[in-house]
Amino acid sequence: MAAYQTQDRGSPAAYERYLKGMDTSMRQKVALTAAHLLCEGNLADMGMGSGSGSHALASLYPDLRVIGVDVNAEMVERARERYSLPNLDFVQGDIAERCLLPGSQEAILNSSVLHHVTSFNGYDREAAGRALAVQAEQLAEHGVLIVRDFLDPGPGTVWLDLPTDDATEEAQPNSSDPRCCSTAALFERFATEFRALREPPTDRGFSYRVVDGETSCPLRPGFRRYEVAHTHAVEFLLRKDYRRDWETEVLEEYTLGLPTLFSLGGEVAVEHEL
Ligand SMILES: C[S@@+](CC[C@H](N)C(=O)[O-])C[C@H]1O[C@@H](n2cnc3c(N)ncnc32)[C@H](O)[C@@H]1O
Repeated sequence: MAAYQTQDRGSPAAYERYLKGMDTSMRQKVALTAAHLLCEGNLADMGMGSGSGSHALASLYPDLRVIGVDVNAEMVERARERYSLPNLDFVQGDIAERCLLPGSQEAILNSSVLHHVTSFNGYDREAAGRALAVQAEQLAEHGVLIVRDFLDPGPGTVWLDLPTDDATEEAQPNSSDPRCCSTAALFERFATEFRALREPPTDRGFSYRVVDGETSCPLRPGFRRYEVAHTHAVEFLLRKDYRRDWETEVLEEYTLGLPTLFSLGGEVAVEHEL
């Protein structure tokens, strides 16, 4: 059962912050995406967020009809208020369900949204594959399905050297308050919270090892070294700067597994950014 309502950001200020963060890299997202698109027909921008990406694509290609779909009514309302073009529309819908007519879309874009589908469906990575299969039915013949998201780096461990001395002034000693604690304290907190929608102790959090006395690669003063699964290191690094909205961000598992994305077949192009 999807728990999408837990994504509510709360206050208007928190919505503004979230959407501003998403939009910081929107030019890059649109540039990457536009290169794979035909410039006419129907395009569905799944989980469009602010709507600025849908708007940019609709402006760039006047012969494209762009529809932004978002599960959150607040997003849809904000996008409608802010962006208006004859070839642009916004609707509320769950992108994991059939929300558009079969065979109706020349292109379907999933930018930073499939990991929401997995996270809010019990961290089930297969849910992304199922959502893509549903979306494939909504594609027109020779349509293009684009996924832009974070990939799981795969097995193995890495070392993370994190500062222990960068807590802000208002932090109490040994604080784990995400707004002011040190980065090392934040990591240790995250290690107990990862996949926060699960009840502890079942598959919530992860283990790590503090590496002491390693001489081949000396540790800088004011840092602590952790040995941790590559996946968990990436999950932490991707969210360590979202301190003000930590409680909402910690609900999400950001990375997706490659097998899920390949399961549909067809032509797959993977561009790595990490
Ligand atoms: C991280 S934002 C991405 C926004 C935009 N696509 C971008 O790349 O900046 C994820 C958006 O997907 C929406 N979302 C999450 N789950 C969804 C679902 N199942 N169906 C539709 N939208 C969803 C959220 O409300 C949010 O606006």
